[in-house]
Amino acid sequence: MPILNGDSMEQIPILHKEKILDFNTALDVLKEYPERDGIDVQTLLDSKNNGGLTYNDFLVLPGYIGFSANQVQLDSPVTKRITLKTPLLSSPMDTVTEHNMAIHMALLGGLGVIHHNCSADDQAEMVRKVKRYENGFILDPIVISPQTTVGETKALKAKWGFGGYPVTETGKLGSKVIGIVTPRDTQFHDNDSDPVTVIMSTDLVTARSGIDLVEANSILQKSKKGKLPIVDENGNLVSLLSRADLMKNVHYPLASKLPHSKQLISAAAIGTRPEDKLRLKKLVDAGLDIIVLDSSQGNSMFQIEMVKWIKNEFPGLDVIGGNVVTREQAAGLIAAGVDGLRIGMGSGSACITQEVMAVGRPQAASIHSVTTFAARFGVPCIADGGIQNVGHMVKGLALGASTVMMGGLLAGTTESPGEYFVSREGQLVKAYRGMGSIAAMEDKKAGVGSSNPNDPKASNAGTARYFSEGDKLLVAQGVSGSVLDRGSITKFVPYLIAGIQHSLQDIGVTSLTALRQGVIDGEVRFELRTVSAQAEGNVHGLHSFDKKLYS
Ligand code: IMP
Repeated sequence: MPILNGDSMEQIPILHKEKILDFNTALDVLKEYPERDGIDVQTLLDSKNNGGLTYNDFLVLPGYIGFSANQVQLDSPVTKRITLKTPLLSSPMDTVTEHNMAIHMALLGGLGVIHHNCSADDQAEMVRKVKRYENGFILDPIVISPQTTVGETKALKAKWGFGGYPVTETGKLGSKVIGIVTPRDTQFHDNDSDPVTVIMSTDLVTARSGIDLVEANSILQKSKKGKLPIVDENGNLVSLLSRADLMKNVHYPLASKLPHSKQLISAAAIGTRPEDKLRLKKLVDAGLDIIVLDSSQGNSMFQIEMVKWIKNEFPGLDVIGGNVVTREQAAGLIAAGVDGLRIGMGSGSACITQEVMAVGRPQAASIHSVTTFAARFGVPCIADGGIQNVGHMVKGLALGASTVMMGGLLAGTTESPGEYFVSREGQLVKAYRGMGSIAAMEDKKAGVGSSNPNDPKASNAGTARYFSEGDKLLVAQGVSGSVLDRGSITKFVPYLIAGIQHSLQDIGVTSLTALRQGVIDGEVRFELRTVSAQAEGNVHGLHSFDKKLYS
């Protein structure tokens, strides 16, 4: 029966049998309550009452929406000196971040930390690629030599799907451009054994390096050619602009760049062994901006000594230390001079540290403990590991982290290293492995333990994150497996950004700074979640469903 008039309000039982109040007074009556609904962050994470909580154990209560989601600002510091427009980082793991991921994370406003399970030279080359990247310019084009045959050029087209190649004197980038071969040249030429010099066009239109994209695009359009070689003052090939890419060029307004620099910010990880010092020199020469000291337990004499050495040797380089999960661990690294901290031990999706080592901490408890301490010294913190969805990101940020770092969530994207393959169940997947898995550690082992930087083995292998890597018997702290295809991060990361903005809108805060302040002031409130509350908060009772997250 519908309620038609105020009389039926008499049927609503109220606590003190008082008179029904005038609805106009609701906001004033609210002020009579000593506290806001829900609990504050200290009560939430009080370990005496609640134990060590993690993301799924609580929720953030909604606030008041007085603005639109796209007004929410996500700028956040990643180190004492560097602020990003998006609080998203990709993890230094060999199935997650190489130059392609690092470039695209930076273009989208975040940061990719290049892994160190490779030679120092390979890692430095990846840093160089990030620093040299300019949107629209192909920095590592396929180049052919005057001796390349027409048949070989046709085979290249079959392999790569495009048929325009610059011809240089040595067949390499950095050498003088002498011609261009296009599919039009090869298509009707029957003698496959002829060298490309017979068919290539030599009336080249080129542009000088340093030119900006808009200008280069306009030269390309006017030239009516398919490709525009970019050359240095001696005519050596530096990069290439392609007409086919012209239409695809996207503008990246959030791109992570240092003030007054056109280059993307680059970050990479190293271990804390003596040979890592030589590795770091190579990375700095390549233009590195941020170094992450990669250890599962960062509070060690090795890392503290390394932080001090780096701060002395490279004062312009920002150092992120970790991983830590307690105030005590953080204090040593802060005293040594870190510019940022990475929080998490045992929370990663491919991680078995807590099971094997009996050491670690639930992630929400870790973040709260470390960030409240680190904030007193102005040191920003990264919530690293265990991020499975947008909700986890917002919870990590609400608890005080300035940024969040993802491994498994990004491993299935086109920008991560490796090829897709079809799983036994017929799904498209990519490999994802913990850096403490036997497979990853065995790959590293060859060069570990040598402190001689000139030892070819040492420079060919990666460096250590787990203290077991130098031992005869490897003790695994991670597993290797696979993750589902997620498409390109150029779609996925914008979804994550929009998701965080919508979440902050629900909470009623217009920025990450306002979120943190609201939590500190007790204005942003929380609620614990029982196991049945968690079940209620997930899809339930449906026979089947399709969980499509964005379109
Ligand atoms: P995810 O985002 O949950 O997949 O976690 C990624 C994080 O797991 C990384 O950034 C590392 O901190 C951590 N991690 C990577 N490899 C291992 C491992 O083998 N054991 C434990 N933790 C790992």
